[in-house]
Amino acid sequence: MVKYQVIKKSKTASGEVNIMSDGISAEAMQAHATIEALLSENRVFPPPEWFRAQANVNDPNIYDTATKDPEAFWAQFARELDWFEPWHQVLEWDPPHAQWFLGGKLNASVNCIDRHVRTARRNKAAIIWEGEPGEERVLTYWDLYREVTKFANVLKRLGVHRGDRVVIYMPMVPEAVVAMLACARIGAPHSVVFGGFSAEALRERINDCGAKVVVTADGGYRRGNIVQLKRATDEAVEHCPTVQHVIVLNRAMDATHVPMLEGRDHWWHRLMEHAPIHCEPEAMDAEDLLFILYTSGSTGKPKGIAHTTGGYLTGVYATTKWVFDLKEDDVFWCTADIGWVTGHSYVVYGPLANGATILMYEGAPDYPERDRLWELVEKYRVTVFYTAPTAIRAFMKWGPQYPKRHDLSSLRLLGSVGEPINPEAWMWYHVYIGGERCPIVDTWWQTETGHILITPLPGITTTKPGSATRPFPGIEADVVDERGESVPLGAGGYLVIKKPWPGMLRTIYGDPERYVKQYWSRFPGVYFTGDGCKRDEEGYYWLLGRVDDVMNVAGHRISTMEVESALVDHPAVAEAAVIGRSHDIKGQAIAAFVTLKEGYRASSDLMDELKEHVVKKIGPIARPDDLHFTSELPKTRSGKIMRRLLRDIAEGRALGDTTTLADPSVVAALRQRYEEQEV
Ligand code: PRX
Repeated sequence: MVKYQVIKKSKTASGEVNIMSDGISAEAMQAHATIEALLSENRVFPPPEWFRAQANVNDPNIYDTATKDPEAFWAQFARELDWFEPWHQVLEWDPPHAQWFLGGKLNASVNCIDRHVRTARRNKAAIIWEGEPGEERVLTYWDLYREVTKFANVLKRLGVHRGDRVVIYMPMVPEAVVAMLACARIGAPHSVVFGGFSAEALRERINDCGAKVVVTADGGYRRGNIVQLKRATDEAVEHCPTVQHVIVLNRAMDATHVPMLEGRDHWWHRLMEHAPIHCEPEAMDAEDLLFILYTSGSTGKPKGIAHTTGGYLTGVYATTKWVFDLKEDDVFWCTADIGWVTGHSYVVYGPLANGATILMYEGAPDYPERDRLWELVEKYRVTVFYTAPTAIRAFMKWGPQYPKRHDLSSLRLLGSVGEPINPEAWMWYHVYIGGERCPIVDTWWQTETGHILITPLPGITTTKPGSATRPFPGIEADVVDERGESVPLGAGGYLVIKKPWPGMLRTIYGDPERYVKQYWSRFPGVYFTGDGCKRDEEGYYWLLGRVDDVMNVAGHRISTMEVESALVDHPAVAEAAVIGRSHDIKGQAIAAFVTLKEGYRASSDLMDELKEHVVKKIGPIARPDDLHFTSELPKTRSGKIMRRLLRDIAEGRALGDTTTLADPSVVAALRQRYEEQEV
């Protein structure tokens, strides 16, 4: 029943009308028809026998084993890591505060590098990299060791001590990974800021964590253009009193054209010239901070999610090993940028802790052509591929002729992350990328969870297109109603996690109260994810998207309040309300409703200016797709903006209940204006 509903919803969401009106090729149309046929069969996908037989885990009993003793379950993975000193207690749970592997001492960079260079993996490729313009580089584990230890010494020489924060604002180049691991080596928590964030967003994050050093590049390539990272860094750092040094990688420009501030700015290559190789790793406590990563919540201010060393590393190590089934000769490609948590956990820490070979690509998937990713899969014989539904929906729209140009037979496992995957996209991925032979793992997790929590295990789980299936072993999830009571199978509610897990966030950096309030107060003692979820009769989880004011735009998490604050920061804007409306490819698109101050007139120039203002405040990922001027916003009698109504208007639906509205004519007027603008 539930499956039927979800499939139905997705069919309307990506609608045939759109597909045809976009002028899609006949081949794509045919593909669509094939997938429709498959969908109507309501198929389920048991693990293929060839996969099951070789999988890292294929015994279904592990679920029971882990449930009986989750601590022992996680400790077994932790023991596969290298520790300077063992822990004396696996877990201390003082809700809502958890500590894992108490007393244990380890270093994340040692686990990602040193322990491999001591073995036959020493000369194995750790990172295969391709730049957008086509440069190729391979770094073996030994190369990575040299680069990381040298850069760790560079940081130390600039006065970075254990506990100091370092912000990394870089393109997808190997040096970004080197910088992260070098920070881990000396015990300096890093905070990676996505290169698509603006100078102002960067400044806010630098100041929130009080970084001493910023590591950046002159620029990075994106769709043939250069993203001016150094310029944005200069603008940001001007108002960052804690920053003493800026290290600049010469990636994309003529170095003589990059203004460098004497004493503050240093070229990466100059600092590395004389840096000694080898750097004693710091013995970090399992609960010492490994990194801070900012994400959007339901307020205007991004939250610094704090992850510690021992539990996080155990969690990403275990999930990479079991969910992605990594083997010695795999080439693992997670397409996420290291600026997001997926990049942290499944580009860097998880795969490298497993001694895997990762592929890193700097640029856009459609540059120079729409087959760039498939060209890379063929060229580097990628075996495990992990991407987001928004990308899959774009590939779908472009048509199967692009993957068909390439030999994708090296692929054996596919993954999806970041937003609900609609069954059509799942099927398309299965047929055209996976050649109908690769299992698909739809993995649910969050910046806060650190690692995957709900997912199939590819050698065990029978998958259903559109469902993330079941909690990972040792994870106790539930779906609850408003009162926090478990709903019966077949029903929907809020997704919660009832027991601590190793990679869970420990706090919000600098705001411990918000940590408690945000995650542990809605249902006391359990972790509130902010996601809606249905469980079908077989106990499979079907994620339904956020239930709070967080949007998921092309897999990027953006808060409505952040965009609203950016808009009201403009002198012309009196009030703004922002909602996420459904979108065929991006999952959600940003729709903004704006009232202007006295003396300002609505115009298309002002509309463009306001959109640009949001880009300046946050970055291009937050640019509103639609912006509507209105003389008033619909509010309840107590003054709360009724977003639900705005969503209805933006999605062209019949209006929901308007009885609590202070002035119902506001909505009617808005609706009319909206429809006029649409035409
Ligand atoms: O709404 C869920 C959605 O992404 C949110 C977390 O976003 P972020 O912290 O940026 O991390 C994204 C990558 C881990 C969740 O609250 N989400 C993530 N994965 C899935 C998903 N929704 C449905 N299915 C998924 N597989």
